[in-house]
Amino acid sequence: MAQHRTHDVLILGTGLAGLRAALEVGSQLGDSVDIGLVSKVQLMRAHSVCAEGGTGAVLRAEEGDNLDLHAWDTIKGSDFLADQDVVYRFVERSPREIRLLENWGMPWSRRDDGRILQRPFGGHSFPRATMAADKTGFFEMQTLYDTLQKYRNHHRYDELFVTRIIVEDGQFRGLTAIDMASGEFVALRGRALLIATGGAGTLYDFTTYSRTVSGDGLAMALRAGLALEDMEFVQFHPTGLVPSAILITEGCRGEGAYLLNKDGERFMADYAPKLLELAPRDLISRAMITEIEAGRGFAGPEGLDYLHLDLAHLGAERIQTRLPLIREVAMKFVDVDPILAPIPVRPAAHYSMGGIECDIDGATGVDGIWVAGEAACVSLHGANRLGTNSTAECLVWGGICGEQIADYLRAGSTLPELPDDCVRAEEARVFDDLLNRDGDENPYELEHELRHLMDACMGVYRTGAALRVGLAQLETLRARFDTVRVDDRSRIYNINLITVLELENLFDLAGVALRSALAREESRGAHARRDFPARDDASWLRHTLVRKVGDELQIGYKPVRITHWHPAERSY
Ligand code: FUM
Repeated sequence: MAQHRTHDVLILGTGLAGLRAALEVGSQLGDSVDIGLVSKVQLMRAHSVCAEGGTGAVLRAEEGDNLDLHAWDTIKGSDFLADQDVVYRFVERSPREIRLLENWGMPWSRRDDGRILQRPFGGHSFPRATMAADKTGFFEMQTLYDTLQKYRNHHRYDELFVTRIIVEDGQFRGLTAIDMASGEFVALRGRALLIATGGAGTLYDFTTYSRTVSGDGLAMALRAGLALEDMEFVQFHPTGLVPSAILITEGCRGEGAYLLNKDGERFMADYAPKLLELAPRDLISRAMITEIEAGRGFAGPEGLDYLHLDLAHLGAERIQTRLPLIREVAMKFVDVDPILAPIPVRPAAHYSMGGIECDIDGATGVDGIWVAGEAACVSLHGANRLGTNSTAECLVWGGICGEQIADYLRAGSTLPELPDDCVRAEEARVFDDLLNRDGDENPYELEHELRHLMDACMGVYRTGAALRVGLAQLETLRARFDTVRVDDRSRIYNINLITVLELENLFDLAGVALRSALAREESRGAHARRDFPARDDASWLRHTLVRKVGDELQIGYKPVRITHWHPAERSY
């Protein structure tokens, strides 16, 4: 029998977007609001703490930066798939977020004159990565969390794994979840829901994401009838550490690090002669794979051939003050001190440009549901995101969604009924069906095969043939999942069961991503088709939308909003 809990608003996901939204709602409505903050992990283990290099914002108009330039860089970086009104909303609001954090006590890195330091980042024509050395996300999370302690209007649900978003008659009704510590089944009601659960990065094996980022919010939204947008666009970060794929921040190249092939050449000169190592990520990742395929990489373990990221010429002082985490990671994980020797790197899955479809305010088509951060596809990044624009997006749309939700609650929205039969059916599905599965299939083996399938079929370069193979293999894997085995039959901290639920989510998202990628017969941003190498604006300057109708996935499209710049050739 499910335990029932009620709040005014439920915030699902406690990374930067979720915490920023909680602060906005909490500070606007004070004691009159009751917020439920839901995370499947401990709050400060949200993946946002892993953000390293910086948060993008225009702070230096007097030194030559401006909002149009940030907007142009973002739109060109997106390969013209970003919605341009969204980009303008973003660049106008991100400086305010930096100042808010500053007021809340964020320990930004500083220049000698005491002003906030900003460093260069790929695809940006001005240094606007606002940073706390190379631990920016960690300190932003800490600052938001500390600030939230001023308010008594939220209740934390850590280690609460949500299994279903219930929507009926176009309206949000509630959530069902497993309380991992007690093993109880929980039903949560609320007037409003913010989905801020992050991306879908563990679809891949070689990835910078924490293992916890399994796209749960996206998959549940899809099953609840919401559309997923632009899921073919997955960002590969050029510098994943080999062999673990731990993020080696682009901040290294922002500080001046070189990418070298095995002949010691700064090969980016052949691919992006003006920006070199500070070209956008899609371009650098393709260049790196090309170098490796041409035999100019170093032989790595398990086929993970790599290139070198050389920081040594930056000198010990700069590395120790600006990149202390990177030095520590390289020393601990590959026994390399970057003051003395280069770091082995190759492109790693890093970010989902796609996500849940929403409008410019983060509102979805369902009454009472908003979405923010990487889980959302507000269409800011288009086909390729610029580094630093993601933490900034989390802050900006965390704030915007918080404002929208506060208005919605003030307007006196009623608490919708949570249908009991939905809760009972979900409890039975989880605890009677899934928990008792005793087939032959090991979920960890299935997960491993799925991730390798995605690495092989939908990586930096794609072809129709490989995507079709991927879809066929996915169907076989999905069928095997029907006879999955759950060995642990207890309810308390049953990570075995949670793995199965996460795997179910990943299967749904892999289907959406592969179908969207197969359908898009062009190359744009991070979607590089060897069989369709050119961008094709006449046919494909549009967003992909996928909905689940019954058991079928239906693909549709919608136009890109071009308000300022017409698509042009993209050279760096
Ligand atoms: O390289 C990095 O520090 C990543 C930043 C980002 O994805 O925005």
